Amino acid sequence: MAKKEIVTYPNPILKKKSKPITAFDSELKRLVDDMAETMFAVPGSGLAAVQIGALLQVLLMNLSENENENKYLALINPEILEKQGTQSDKEGCLSVPDYFTKVKRAQKVKVQGLDINGNEHKYEFEDWLARVVQHEVDHLNGILILDRISSLKRALYKKRRKKQLKKEKSE
Ligand code: CO
Repeated sequence: MAKKEIVTYPNPILKKKSKPITAFDSELKRLVDDMAETMFAVPGSGLAAVQIGALLQVLLMNLSENENENKYLALINPEILEKQGTQSDKEGCLSVPDYFTKVKRAQKVKVQGLDINGNEHKYEFEDWLARVVQHEVDHLNGILILDRISSLKRALYKKRRKKQLKKEKSE
Protein backbone atom coordinates (compact mmCIF):
# COMPACT_ATOMS: atom_id res chain seq x y z
CA MET A 1 0.00 0.00 0.00
CA ALA A 2 1.06 3.54 -0.59
CA LYS A 3 -0.34 6.85 0.46
CA LYS A 4 -0.91 9.02 -2.59
CA GLU A 5 -1.03 12.75 -3.04
CA ILE A 6 -4.56 14.14 -3.28
CA VAL A 7 -5.35 16.04 -6.47
CA THR A 8 -6.80 19.46 -5.67
CA TYR A 9 -8.81 22.17 -7.39
CA PRO A 10 -8.26 23.60 -10.02
CA ASN A 11 -6.57 20.51 -11.49
CA PRO A 12 -8.61 19.86 -14.69
CA ILE A 13 -8.65 16.08 -14.14
CA LEU A 14 -11.30 16.66 -11.45
CA LYS A 15 -13.73 17.76 -14.19
CA LYS A 16 -13.33 14.57 -16.21
CA LYS A 17 -15.61 11.55 -16.20
CA SER A 18 -14.20 8.31 -14.84
CA LYS A 19 -14.28 5.09 -16.86
CA PRO A 20 -15.87 1.84 -15.68
CA ILE A 21 -13.66 -0.93 -14.33
CA THR A 22 -13.56 -3.97 -16.59
CA ALA A 23 -10.80 -6.07 -14.99
CA PHE A 24 -11.09 -7.25 -11.39
CA ASP A 25 -7.42 -7.99 -10.93
CA SER A 26 -4.46 -7.23 -8.67
CA GLU A 27 -4.14 -3.77 -10.22
CA LEU A 28 -7.63 -2.89 -9.02
CA LYS A 29 -6.84 -4.31 -5.58
CA ARG A 30 -3.73 -2.15 -5.41
CA LEU A 31 -5.70 0.95 -6.42
CA VAL A 32 -8.27 0.29 -3.67
CA ASP A 33 -5.49 -0.30 -1.11
CA ASP A 34 -3.80 2.96 -2.07
CA MET A 35 -7.10 4.83 -1.89
CA ALA A 36 -7.82 3.37 1.57
CA GLU A 37 -4.40 4.36 2.90
CA THR A 38 -4.76 7.86 1.45
CA MET A 39 -8.29 8.29 2.86
CA PHE A 40 -7.42 7.05 6.37
CA ALA A 41 -4.28 9.23 6.52
CA VAL A 42 -6.39 12.42 6.42
CA PRO A 43 -8.91 10.95 7.46
CA GLY A 44 -11.63 11.62 4.91
CA SER A 45 -15.26 10.46 4.85
CA GLY A 46 -14.80 9.07 1.38
CA LEU A 47 -12.54 9.14 -1.64
CA ALA A 48 -12.93 8.75 -5.40
CA ALA A 49 -10.15 7.29 -7.56
CA VAL A 50 -9.85 10.51 -9.57
CA GLN A 51 -8.69 12.23 -6.38
CA ILE A 52 -5.47 10.23 -6.56
CA GLY A 53 -5.27 10.73 -10.32
CA ALA A 54 -6.98 7.57 -11.62
CA LEU A 55 -9.99 8.23 -13.87
CA LEU A 56 -11.72 5.01 -12.89
CA GLN A 57 -15.13 4.36 -11.39
CA VAL A 58 -13.98 3.40 -7.91
CA LEU A 59 -15.09 5.07 -4.70
CA LEU A 60 -14.52 4.39 -1.03
CA MET A 61 -16.76 5.25 1.89
CA ASN A 62 -15.19 5.50 5.32
CA LEU A 63 -17.26 3.35 7.70
CA SER A 64 -14.93 3.61 10.71
CA GLU A 65 -16.69 4.46 13.94
CA ASN A 66 -13.54 5.63 15.70
CA GLU A 67 -9.96 6.56 14.85
CA ASN A 68 -8.60 3.11 15.74
CA GLU A 69 -10.76 1.47 13.13
CA ASN A 70 -9.98 1.36 9.41
CA LYS A 71 -13.27 0.17 7.98
CA TYR A 72 -14.43 1.05 4.51
CA LEU A 73 -16.72 0.07 1.69
CA ALA A 74 -15.38 0.03 -1.86
CA LEU A 75 -17.91 0.56 -4.65
CA ILE A 76 -16.88 -0.15 -8.22
CA ASN A 77 -18.91 1.20 -11.17
CA PRO A 78 -21.56 2.51 -8.75
CA GLU A 79 -24.96 3.66 -9.85
CA ILE A 80 -27.56 5.54 -7.85
CA LEU A 81 -30.85 3.75 -8.52
CA GLU A 82 -33.21 5.79 -6.38
CA LYS A 83 -33.20 9.04 -4.43
CA GLN A 84 -35.63 10.02 -1.69
CA GLY A 85 -36.18 13.21 0.30
CA THR A 86 -33.73 16.06 0.75
CA GLN A 87 -31.12 17.11 3.29
CA SER A 88 -29.02 20.25 3.42
CA ASP A 89 -25.83 20.27 5.45
CA LYS A 90 -22.24 21.46 5.42
CA GLU A 91 -19.93 19.49 3.20
CA GLY A 92 -16.21 19.59 2.51
CA CYS A 93 -13.96 17.87 -0.02
CA LEU A 94 -10.32 16.77 0.19
CA SER A 95 -9.86 18.18 -3.33
CA VAL A 96 -11.30 21.58 -2.40
CA PRO A 97 -8.97 22.69 0.41
CA ASP A 98 -10.16 24.78 3.36
CA TYR A 99 -13.76 25.01 2.27
CA PHE A 100 -17.08 23.93 3.75
CA THR A 101 -20.40 24.81 2.26
CA LYS A 102 -24.04 23.80 2.51
CA VAL A 103 -24.97 21.33 -0.22
CA LYS A 104 -28.43 19.95 -0.87
CA ARG A 105 -28.55 16.17 -1.28
CA ALA A 106 -31.11 13.39 -1.25
CA GLN A 107 -31.75 12.12 2.27
CA LYS A 108 -31.91 8.46 1.26
CA VAL A 109 -30.43 6.62 -1.73
CA LYS A 110 -30.44 3.14 -3.18
CA VAL A 111 -27.10 2.31 -4.78
CA GLN A 112 -25.84 -0.56 -6.87
CA GLY A 113 -22.16 -1.37 -7.28
CA LEU A 114 -19.57 -4.09 -7.65
CA ASP A 115 -17.02 -5.23 -5.08
CA ILE A 116 -13.35 -5.79 -5.90
CA ASN A 117 -14.16 -9.33 -7.05
CA GLY A 118 -16.77 -8.07 -9.51
CA ASN A 119 -19.82 -9.23 -7.54
CA GLU A 120 -22.87 -6.99 -7.62
CA HIS A 121 -24.40 -5.58 -4.43
CA LYS A 122 -27.26 -3.23 -3.60
CA TYR A 123 -27.16 -0.84 -0.66
CA GLU A 124 -29.43 1.68 1.01
CA PHE A 125 -27.87 4.67 2.68
CA GLU A 126 -29.45 7.44 4.74
CA ASP A 127 -28.36 10.79 6.14
CA TRP A 128 -24.56 11.15 6.36
CA LEU A 129 -23.64 8.03 4.37
CA ALA A 130 -26.19 8.98 1.70
CA ARG A 131 -24.43 12.34 1.52
CA VAL A 132 -21.00 10.68 1.24
CA VAL A 133 -21.99 8.31 -1.56
CA GLN A 134 -23.68 11.11 -3.55
CA HIS A 135 -20.56 13.28 -3.13
CA GLU A 136 -18.24 10.50 -4.34
CA VAL A 137 -20.49 9.52 -7.28
CA ASP A 138 -20.38 13.21 -8.24
CA HIS A 139 -16.57 12.94 -8.40
CA LEU A 140 -16.86 10.02 -10.84
CA ASN A 141 -18.96 12.30 -13.05
CA GLY A 142 -16.50 15.19 -12.84
CA ILE A 143 -18.68 17.19 -10.43
CA LEU A 144 -17.32 19.01 -7.38
CA ILE A 145 -19.15 20.67 -4.48
CA LEU A 146 -18.20 23.92 -6.24
CA ASP A 147 -20.58 22.92 -9.04
CA ARG A 148 -23.42 22.54 -6.53
CA ILE A 149 -23.32 26.05 -5.04
CA SER A 150 -24.25 29.51 -6.33
CA SER A 151 -22.03 31.11 -8.96
CA LEU A 152 -21.26 33.93 -6.51
CA LYS A 153 -20.02 31.54 -3.83
CA ARG A 154 -18.03 29.67 -6.46
CA ALA A 155 -16.40 32.88 -7.71
CA LEU A 156 -15.42 33.83 -4.15
CA TYR A 157 -13.82 30.46 -3.53
CA LYS A 158 -11.96 30.56 -6.86
CA LYS A 159 -10.51 33.93 -5.94
CA ARG A 160 -9.47 32.75 -2.49
CA ARG A 161 -7.92 29.55 -3.87
CA LYS A 162 -5.94 31.51 -6.49
CA LYS A 163 -4.48 33.73 -3.78
CA GLN A 164 -3.68 30.70 -1.65
CA LEU A 165 -1.85 28.94 -4.50
CA LYS A 166 0.10 32.10 -5.34
CA LYS A 167 1.17 32.39 -1.73
CA GLU A 168 2.21 28.73 -1.60
CA LYS A 169 4.30 29.23 -4.75
CA SER A 170 6.12 32.25 -3.38
CA GLU A 171 6.95 30.60 -0.06
CO1 CO B 1 -14.71 15.22 -2.56
